[in-house]
Amino acid sequence: MQQLHSPWRHLFPGIQQLNDTGQVWLDSAATAQKPQAMLDALLQYYQQGVANVHRAQHQPGERATLAFEQARQLAAHWLNASNSDCIIFTKGTTEGINLLSHALAGQFNAGDEILLSGYEHHANLLPWQQLAQRQQLQLKILPVDNHGTIEIAYAADYFNSRTRLLAISPLSNVLGQLHYLQPLFAQARAQSIITVVDGAQYAVHRQPDVQQLDCDFFVCSSHKLYGPDGVGLLYAHPKQHALMQPWQWGGEMIEYCTYQSAQARALPLGFEAGTPSIANVIAFAATLEWLLSLDKTAVQAHEQALFMQLQQGLAERNMQIVGQPDTALISFNAPEVHPADLAHLLSEQGIAVRGGQHCAMPLFQQLGLPGAVRVSLALYNDSSDIQAFFQALDKALEILA
Ligand SMILES: Cc1ncc(COP(=O)(O)O)c(C=O)c1O
Repeated sequence: MQQLHSPWRHLFPGIQQLNDTGQVWLDSAATAQKPQAMLDALLQYYQQGVANVHRAQHQPGERATLAFEQARQLAAHWLNASNSDCIIFTKGTTEGINLLSHALAGQFNAGDEILLSGYEHHANLLPWQQLAQRQQLQLKILPVDNHGTIEIAYAADYFNSRTRLLAISPLSNVLGQLHYLQPLFAQARAQSIITVVDGAQYAVHRQPDVQQLDCDFFVCSSHKLYGPDGVGLLYAHPKQHALMQPWQWGGEMIEYCTYQSAQARALPLGFEAGTPSIANVIAFAATLEWLLSLDKTAVQAHEQALFMQLQQGLAERNMQIVGQPDTALISFNAPEVHPADLAHLLSEQGIAVRGGQHCAMPLFQQLGLPGAVRVSLALYNDSSDIQAFFQALDKALEILA
């Protein structure tokens, strides 16, 4: 195996610490390790004296508010949003989709349809399922075939006059197959169907561009993007702001209120009730700045080369691959072996991979599988990580035989 070295690995102290304790991190699709730039920003924010945002006139309050709003501008730039009012800070992808499932509730009448793919993460299924139950809507699913693939080219055949919303991920956390969704979104727009992108995995491996994607809403999580936990982005297309009703009420999100009534602010503050995760937003901005400084072509080439090594090694061992992965992660099973047993034996050897159904239970029901072991890659991985994984896999298979 050719030895591929990540030029960014040394910037991640957590990787070094994990290696020193005998752990190999191949679970970045669950959460990513953090670069020093983000850790420095977090510490600096707390060390310089904290203040709440958007409410105080004092100098620390102004400084925190400025940094917070600069983070919003940077997030807008990173997503290529037309302006920073389109960016709502959330807790993460899950909260972003829950927010939408409430904020857009007024757009549906009983009998209307919501269309999802059959491979969605629970975060992009359950909020819509619950909305459908509350308002007597139909949840329609783009079917996954026996190989775990979806014919995206024919997905628009599932649109009809009752379809109001399409929510889909360009990169599944189980299948690792990249889908180009722009043509589908163009067809949706032509039929006034609202489009929601679950970008939790996609944003990590491709530079998201909401104007190019031409979607109405885009959500992602900072913690998978090498940033802190507890922060995410929700992008809302300017034309769709008027569709959204506030979903949480409280401090700093109203224009005016009396004991009996309240008038909410417009985006974004009308959707950020209460004190936000200030330190994490600011540290996330530092992470995005760091990500923007990287050579994206080099990052993608490195990840792809590692992916090929992973794919080849699994094929040589006749592992059963779930779907037709082409990007960043592979889920697989060993013949006649339960994925939980395999994941356990790998974990015991210090290989951090994930076994189970990866918050996509209906997908595994569809595929008739009890689960799978998932290996996921990030820009800090080296070939040495993949070699350590294969050594451990060979040993585990020997034990199981
Ligand atoms: C495709 C996808 N969507 C949504 C989520 C939920 O993200 P979070 O837990 O950060 O809200 C995940 C997390 O694994 C994911 O992979």
